[in-house]
Amino acid sequence: MFLENNSDLFETIAAELLDQGLCVLKNGVPEKIAKALQVQASAIQLEGYKQAGVGRGQEQIADRQIRSDEIHWIDGGSKGECEWLEWMSELQQYLNRRLFLGLFSFESHFAHYSSGDFYEKHYDAFKGQVNRVLTVVTYLNSNWKAEYGGELLVYGDVNKGQEKKVIHTVSPELGTIVIFLSELFPHEVLPAKKDRYSIAGWFRVNGSSKENIDPPH
Ligand code: OGA
Ligand code: MN
Repeated sequence: MFLENNSDLFETIAAELLDQGLCVLKNGVPEKIAKALQVQASAIQLEGYKQAGVGRGQEQIADRQIRSDEIHWIDGGSKGECEWLEWMSELQQYLNRRLFLGLFSFESHFAHYSSGDFYEKHYDAFKGQVNRVLTVVTYLNSNWKAEYGGELLVYGDVNKGQEKKVIHTVSPELGTIVIFLSELFPHEVLPAKKDRYSIAGWFRVNGSSKENIDPPH
């Protein structure tokens, strides 16, 4: 069963973010959007995915020891991408009004994990660096079975000293969405035994100033 009413869904997300800093919802993405993205994820030609790096801009390194997936940035170049970006923009507006998060921009990419691919435990943002505030991950795989591996492990809130404890084990099933405060929750992707498609995205606050121009990615 998919939740079709955006404002109920957005309120659930806002309330859980306020309470826990994190929200995991099965069938959270509207079915139409999830399916359009699913079709696109597997249609992107293999050369359309690029080896993922770690870090940003010039500091970016391709480090297969840390992550071995391949990514493709979402730019609104297809109907599915447009619907996804539109829906994220509505979520951004809702969260800004409800939680005063000051979210300024959103960037996201498809990720393809081939058999054996993984992403070691990491944070998406570091304290004190004004950049990624809120992480959104969603999954594009139908009928994912436990034996395929590839789960997302989310560890507890570092501010509560729970960063070594797994608090959620998320199967990468179509429509599941995971949203959390980027600085607080370390997470990792266990090796998948089958092609695994996901989207990872980040809402950012505006880190640009006279001294530091701070474009996305
Ligand atoms: C990431 C990430 C999780 C996933 O790209 O930073 O943590 O399940 N992805 O794909
Ligand atoms: Mn991550």
